[in-house]
Amino acid sequence: MLIIDGKKVSQDLKNELKSSVDSYQAITGKVPGLTVIIVGQDPASQGYVRNKAKTCKEIGMISSVIEMPSETTEKQLLDTIHELNNDPAVHGILVQQPLPEHIDEFTVNLAVDPSKDVDGFHPENLGCLVMGRLDKCFVSCTPYGILELLGRYNIETKGKHCVVVGRSDIVGKPMANLMLQKLDAADCTVTVCHSATQNISFYIKHADILIVAIGKAGFITADMVKLGVVVIDVGINRIEDPATKSGYRLVGDVDYEGVSAVASAMTPVPGGVGPMTIAMLMKNTLLSFQRINGL
Ligand SMILES: NC(=O)c1ccc[n+]([C@@H]2O[C@H](COP(=O)([O-])OP(=O)(O)OC[C@H]3O[C@@H](n4cnc5c(N)ncnc54)[C@H](OP(=O)(O)O)[C@@H]3O)[C@@H](O)[C@H]2O)c1
Repeated sequence: MLIIDGKKVSQDLKNELKSSVDSYQAITGKVPGLTVIIVGQDPASQGYVRNKAKTCKEIGMISSVIEMPSETTEKQLLDTIHELNNDPAVHGILVQQPLPEHIDEFTVNLAVDPSKDVDGFHPENLGCLVMGRLDKCFVSCTPYGILELLGRYNIETKGKHCVVVGRSDIVGKPMANLMLQKLDAADCTVTVCHSATQNISFYIKHADILIVAIGKAGFITADMVKLGVVVIDVGINRIEDPATKSGYRLVGDVDYEGVSAVASAMTPVPGGVGPMTIAMLMKNTLLSFQRINGL
């Protein structure tokens, strides 16, 4: 079985991005800038934000983090976003989610200038994705990273049956729409399953490419899939493991050990989709910089 190594591909991609950033800096004297806003003290979100800032630095991009207290009002957050929308040194704006309950995430997604929305959450970007205009939009980073993995591993996708399990706005829906597009590494017949799908095993068994994003540890087992299936496991679940120092370990939505005996190719967790998500955020920030500067 082929292990689809997101750690390696993301490192290759980051090296490529770094040389592009260096070349653009030599030509224009400018570098791409990503600003991340974090509201509140959620430790997991703080970790993600630190990681994004670190990756920006590795690539030679400018990274700024705006930390706002959890009592921040929606209006204060929207005002900050509007300032960043108008700041020419900022090419990418990312508002770390989840946000405190009193702030409406959709209103926040709408406030980010679509031309700086490197997370691809603005409805304008999602709309362009649905219409297949990738040249006009930012694709949200996790689905975009999966497309990149399928492409770099030359996985045959054209005309194949792709089953996406999960229909969230950030993974399942954009993923399904992306796999439907007439693109290299896509061009599939797509089925989307969710928690109300009846007889879900029927659809999963008929998948040539199975993309799972539900947040349920080991949900997909070997008996559920077809021999030779390509499996992309998006799930990140913490399970208790007294044998580790932290007392837990990360697993995907797919039973890796069992399914890897049946699949032809598969992403591991960790080291599969996760590292690609952050690399694609960098790719989108560079893309924004190129578009804004007409490069
Ligand atoms: N690797 C990465 O970079 C990355 C990025 C984002 C997310 N993730 C991980 O991916 C997983 C999903 O994230 P998300 O944000 O998409 O989650 P989410 O917003 O909670 O959505 C979960 C989706 O799974 C569906 N679902 C839940 N239980 C199901 C079941 N038993 N059978 C079929 N469908 C079921 C839900 O259906 P309903 O719509 O019917 O409720 C929903 O559409 C999480 O583990 C998350 O940590 C990883």
